[in-house]
Parts: sequence; structure tokens; C-alpha cells
Amino acid sequence: MSPTAHPTILVIGKSGQLARVLQAESAFWPYHVTCIGRDICDLSGPNAAILEALAPYKTACAVINAAAYTQVDKAEDEPDLAMQINGHAPGVIAGFCQRLNIPLIHISTDYVFNGRGRNGSGRTAYRPSDPTAPMNAYGLSKRAGEKAVMAYAGGAVLRASWLFDGYGDNFFTKMIELAKTRSELSIVSDQIGRPVDTTSLAKACFSVVSNHSHSIYHIACNGAETSWAGFAKAIFRAAPPAVLPDIAVTNIAAKDYKTKAVRPAYSVLDNRKFQQDYQTRLPDWRDMIDLAWQQYLTVHPS
Ligand SMILES: NC(=O)c1ccc[n+]([C@@H]2O[C@H](COP(=O)([O-])OP(=O)(O)OC[C@H]3O[C@@H](n4cnc5c(N)ncnc54)[C@H](OP(=O)(O)O)[C@@H]3O)[C@@H](O)[C@H]2O)c1
Repeated sequence: MSPTAHPTILVIGKSGQLARVLQAESAFWPYHVTCIGRDICDLSGPNAAILEALAPYKTACAVINAAAYTQVDKAEDEPDLAMQINGHAPGVIAGFCQRLNIPLIHISTDYVFNGRGRNGSGRTAYRPSDPTAPMNAYGLSKRAGEKAVMAYAGGAVLRASWLFDGYGDNFFTKMIELAKTRSELSIVSDQIGRPVDTTSLAKACFSVVSNHSHSIYHIACNGAETSWAGFAKAIFRAAPPAVLPDIAVTNIAAKDYKTKAVRPAYSVLDNRKFQQDYQTRLPDWRDMIDLAWQQYLTVHPS
């Protein structure tokens, strides 16, 4: 069967981490994926231009919005641009989908929360229905996008946290690049989350396309909660022999690692609603580190 015999999912985003994995992962699903980059659909542009770019895809069986302004610190300097791309454009996309009755899957983030945990407990994972309270311009813009998408009955929001793989520009690949040139790294140990790999997020997107639900879902891997320092240590522990020199990770406090945007101290996402509704179990993030290493080594053979 030729790939075009499958219904087409339109993915907005092309070179981004998730968009690329959606394209690759589609080989295992009964869908044909068409990705469009900002050269075709610029989400910072006027509504009419976005709608014109989407017009050729009126027969898509679903739209996945994997595009976003993702530079968390830079968003503090460009809040209007972040809001246009993350907050306003998803509403335009939702309007397009609504007129044509096309399900829309939109990706959001743990940064819509204030970092105090469920009920301010500081230590209990957030459920999808918990109140949001973004702490930075990026989080505010992403929350606006969620609201715009959920205003459409065919919209679904998948919140991801600490997204990584061996291909993209993310914490996993950054740690490896740093470890190649340093013998010691100081990493924040008092921000707590639970990572998710791009493959698991892509699979979740296809599951929601296959059995659409007008819901917000939390897509984080299973496994112990961790800090950025804990994540880094796990990455280095899983390194194949002789790939990296010995590296020491020193724990530091977020207050000693200044960033333009404030980040949540605790943003673990409770994934049980997704697992229950889709009768599935997300993998342990530590197992997905092994996959990320395999991916990394295909791109950077030693
Ligand atoms: N990275 C994380 O740690 C993380 C964590 C939680 C949630 N998320 C969310 O997960 C989703 C996917 O993130 P990602 O890491 O895959 O993002 P990414 O690698 O930074 O890629 C961003 C994507 O957005 C597109 N884009 C940026 N500006 C655009 C514009 N003006 N018009 C159209 N497209 C534009 C890019 O388009 P081109 O293809 O043309 O370059 C690219 O495909 C996003 O919604 C993000 O907020 C990410």
C-alpha cells in the first residue's frame, strides 16, 4: 500500500524535535504525515496568511500543532512574539479545524504551572485539571494557546515536560556536548520534574489522533521524579563505554544559576489520565535514555 493511501495528518512544524519524530514514527501508524515548516506557515504572521497556508490541507484527518516559540529565556524579551506564536496562532488553527471538523492535537508544557505542585503541596504531581499559574512569558503564552485550542470541541492538549531525545537541541544532547569539553559540571538540583522522550510523545499524539478526546493530557514518562542534576547523572551513567570521559556532576541551587526566565521548582506531571483513557503505560524515562543514546550515536558516530 502506498503511504498516500493512508489518511493524512497535517503536522505544523518541520525541523523541530517533535515534528521530526512524528514524521519518522508515522511509519508505524496507519497515517501519512505531512509536515509544514514556517517557510509555508509562519505562525508569527497575520491570521489570513496562516489560514491561506492551511487551506490546501482541508482533507486532513487531523492536525497536530508541533510548532511553538520554545526559547524560554528569550521569551522574556519577546513576550509579544511568543504570545502571537504560542497563544494567538493556535486559536487561528483551531478556527480552521472547527470549520472543517478536523480534530486538533496541540502540544503544551509543564511550564503552565507555578512549580508548587498539586494543591501547593510542593511534592504531588499536577493533574490535567489542576489550576494553572504560569511563572514566565513562555508559560503564559503556552497557557493562552491551550485555552484557544480547548475552546474548540475537537481540540486536545498534550502537556509534555523536559522533552529529550538523541537528535534535537535539548538537555540530553547539551549535557553530552558539555561533557566532551569539561570534567565537572554544576547542574541545578532543586527543580524537580519527570522527562519525556520525543518518541513517547509522538506515540501519544498518534493515539489521540486514533481515538480523539476533547481533553488535556499529561505526557510524562514513568519513573522516579528527578532534578536536572539527577537527569544529567542518569545520562552520564547510561553512556556507552569509552564514549565520554569521566565527568563529575555537582549539585547547585537554581538561585545560583541565573536565567532570565523564572522556572517552576516542581513541575512533575501526573500521567495517569492518559494511561487510563488510552489503556497504555508510558515507559520509564531512564529506559528512554538508552534509546536517546542509540539515536545520538547514529548522528554522532564515535
Ligand atoms: N523542548 C522542551 O523541553 C519542551 C517541553 C515541554 C513542552 N514542549 C512543547 O513541545 C512542542 C514541541 O517542541 P519542540 O521541542 O519539538 O520544539 P523545537 O524543537 O524548538 O521546534 C520548534 C518548532 O516550532 C516551529 N516554529 C517556531 N517558530 C515558528 C513560526 N513563527 N511559525 C511556524 N513555526 C514555527 C519550528 O519551525 P521550523 O520547522 O520551520 O523551524 C519548529 O518546527 C512545543 O509545543 C513545545 O512548547 C517542549
